[in-house]
Amino acid sequence: MGCRIIGCGKALPALDVKNDELTKLVDTSDEWIVTRTGIESRRVAVAETGTDLSVAAARQALGWDEGGYSERRVDPAEIDLVIYATITPDAMVPSCAGLLRRRLGLERAAAFDLNAACSGFVYGLSVAESLMAACAPNAAGASGRNPIRRALIVGAERLSRITNWPDRNTCVLFGDGAGAAVVEWDEERPGILSSFIANEDDPTNALTCPAAYDSPVPFDNEGVSLRAEEHDDSLDAVDEELGIRAHIADGEPRQVLRMDGQKVFKFAVGALSAAVDVALERAGLTLDDVSLIVPHQANERIIRYAAKKIGRPLDFFQVSIAHRGNSSAACIPMTLADAYENGRIKPGDKVVLVAFGGGFTSGAVVYEA
Ligand code: ACO
Repeated sequence: MGCRIIGCGKALPALDVKNDELTKLVDTSDEWIVTRTGIESRRVAVAETGTDLSVAAARQALGWDEGGYSERRVDPAEIDLVIYATITPDAMVPSCAGLLRRRLGLERAAAFDLNAACSGFVYGLSVAESLMAACAPNAAGASGRNPIRRALIVGAERLSRITNWPDRNTCVLFGDGAGAAVVEWDEERPGILSSFIANEDDPTNALTCPAAYDSPVPFDNEGVSLRAEEHDDSLDAVDEELGIRAHIADGEPRQVLRMDGQKVFKFAVGALSAAVDVALERAGLTLDDVSLIVPHQANERIIRYAAKKIGRPLDFFQVSIAHRGNSSAACIPMTLADAYENGRIKPGDKVVLVAFGGGFTSGAVVYEA
């Protein structure tokens, strides 16, 4: 018995921005970007919202629209849970999961958002599987919990809204998109065999993006003060904690992704191979049992290094970065949909999904297709 992936899908914004187009914004070149990252173009959501993209991806995963992969059409009333992983939500209230629930008419579903940066989809899958296992027919205490038979897990991002476009070190890396998967508890077949989620510290603030609130606060420590509206001391405290005060003093926009690429690169290569090792050990498997690894798509060079580290060719991984770039939580479900569409996952195959990212989060899921 276990939690099986029975559908997945993806959706991209219409605008395709090629590397050459970015040379109009920053001092870069197609050659530099392709050589250092493997990225040739990325999609940017000009008019689409994250919810629009996630609706389109979820419709494929539910078997309502062409594309992606689905074992069967799933009715709205069959979905008990929606988890929406993102660092760029369209709204704080309601949650994006709630917006998606409304747009798809998933009237029975509990719904919430999850932020684990680029690892968000793997975290979401792991949480969904745990909740389902906890209410499975023979699980201790099952009758006291929400009965969750089927869940929709989405990773969706509009990183274009937190990209510092004048910064060539980061702006060439990111893209927008959404991916989704439907999972179902199956009493006969295994599905997810193991999962692993982790969070290391990011002690030097190698990857940050502060929240931004723009409601003026008419108080100081004494009470009402209209002058306090002009400056929010707590923002300074956050900027201090994230080590970004100097950037903001230099006039950079506040709510953008800032990254020390080399530190993140180093973390990523180690985290990727470690997460694969732990998840395989928990499943009682080795790499020889695995047909395909679907990794987070941050930089093709990270995947190449990781492939070398685990002693496998690049082809052992699904690589989908060339025309999308890094779309954080959306990467893995979109890349998984590619793998199904390209016929790279067949029934019975053992597949590893592996993620790493801001936080520093990481995680992996091993499942039998
Ligand atoms: N075009 C031209 N030159 C550039 C560009 C650019 N777009 N960007 C940087 N350079 C320059 C730098 O200024 C530097 O020049 P200098 O030597 O004169 O100072 C030179 O290229 C080399 O820069 P490096 O940072 O050493 O380049 P590197 O090979 O490390 O590649 C990169 C940078 C692509 C960012 C890489 O470090 C990387 O991929 N890091 C990991 C990113 C990642 O995994 N992110 C995941 C998390 S994202 C999230 O959570 C949303």
